[in-house]
Amino acid sequence: MKAKIEFDGKFYEFPVTKGSEDEYAIDISTLRAQTGGLITLDRGFKNTGSCESAITFLNGEEGILRYRGYSIEDLAENASFLEVAYLLIFGELPSESELNKFYDDIKAESNVDEEMHKILDGFPKSAHPMGVVSSLTNALIAFNPSSVNVESKEDMYNAIIKLLAKFPVLCAWALRKRTGQPLDYGDDSLGYVENVLKMMFKKANQNYEVDPVIASALNKLLILHADHEQNCSTSTVRVVGSSHAGLFASISAGISALWGPLHGGANQAVIEMLEGIKEDGGDTKKYMQKAKDKEDPFRLMGFGHRVYKNFDPRARIIKKSADDVLGNLGVEDPILDIAKGLEKEALEDDYFVKRKLYPNVDFYSGIIYRALGIPTEMFTVMFALGRLPGWIAQWREMRLGKEPIGRPRQVYTGEKLRSYKPMDQR
Ligand code: SDX
Repeated sequence: MKAKIEFDGKFYEFPVTKGSEDEYAIDISTLRAQTGGLITLDRGFKNTGSCESAITFLNGEEGILRYRGYSIEDLAENASFLEVAYLLIFGELPSESELNKFYDDIKAESNVDEEMHKILDGFPKSAHPMGVVSSLTNALIAFNPSSVNVESKEDMYNAIIKLLAKFPVLCAWALRKRTGQPLDYGDDSLGYVENVLKMMFKKANQNYEVDPVIASALNKLLILHADHEQNCSTSTVRVVGSSHAGLFASISAGISALWGPLHGGANQAVIEMLEGIKEDGGDTKKYMQKAKDKEDPFRLMGFGHRVYKNFDPRARIIKKSADDVLGNLGVEDPILDIAKGLEKEALEDDYFVKRKLYPNVDFYSGIIYRALGIPTEMFTVMFALGRLPGWIAQWREMRLGKEPIGRPRQVYTGEKLRSYKPMDQR
């Protein structure tokens, strides 16, 4: 199949590539060569594919999300987060022995060099945990200097295991730094998700019993956040990695991209928005008007999505899980009702319906994190913890696929050639 472009009276042909879910893309790799310099312009890459990938499939119109062909509903209901991490990275669900070896290898690497404390100590208690975690992830390079020789399957595996092992410790440290708790190294007798909870919440002078309701809720949330094709932070990981920067450096860059309130930082912004509405008397109609007013910078955080023009399937699952978790924990949270009220109004409002703005993954997740006792500033760190296997899988696919360095072009709109002006002539 071909696509034809006419430019300046001439016709040019380009191959059309077809994905395994019958998606079509015009391959414009030869555009500049064929036309003598023509490029495309696509702000925010809304219509541009950056790669071919076999990891995650989204259908935004139908609200479909699959990891390696398995539906998000199926995995969220039946899998463990570690199984999903293995699936995303290596392409298949692990056998029991493969999963046990995977976790044994992770446990063997879960110590973080004591010297890393000095870097953590350098941060003020008020430092945002996302800044702490992205810095510490980068600092891990200094303690694991061997860059990843991607031609070596063993090197690649070891780097992946180290990151999956140490990243949860860094996330827990970021929380404990903020709460003034001594650092905790976890307990290898626990499962991966249970250990995250213990590292985050165990008090120095008390035992910590993992609540299975909380562990199950966190397991599901981490699965739901594990990958999402070429979103902003994943594209960042792939572009940084395409320069052959190492895995840890690439993931650190992805954490920084995720921090933004238009992306993963939205889960914190949603709770702050809902709390603001509650403080302001719970008048959701007033905030709906603000969200629609072009003169007002206020946006309905947790609503809208670049790809989903239907319900984000993750938001559906999280909304139901919020009811279940708060019910099981006996938690009453008035902002859940405010969230549901906003959703109902938005789904009946022409502005949102016309623009196909639905709740996204961030709209309800914070309500569950809150019920689990996770502070608001840690919400995006929890997103990063879930997204880590997806970032790793995408980085690995890009490097093994020998992708070229990511280097977009531009349309220059600045000054034409001009001569230097001496100071007395300016
Ligand atoms: C994530 O890409 C991914 O896959 C990301 C993610 C993942 O798993 O990695 O799914 C995670 O980042 C989810 C999104 C979290 N962000 C938010 O909830 C922030 C609020 N949402 C928006 O800022 C916005 O919807 C984006 C950033 C999510 C998407 O922006 P787009 O695709 O660039 O769309 P746009 O900004 O051009 O909006 C189109 C129209 C505009 O109105 P018009 O100019 O056409 O009149 O919709 C309006 C926007 O003003 N609009 C909103 C809105 N989102 C879009 N109006 C009010 N409130 C909103 N939330």
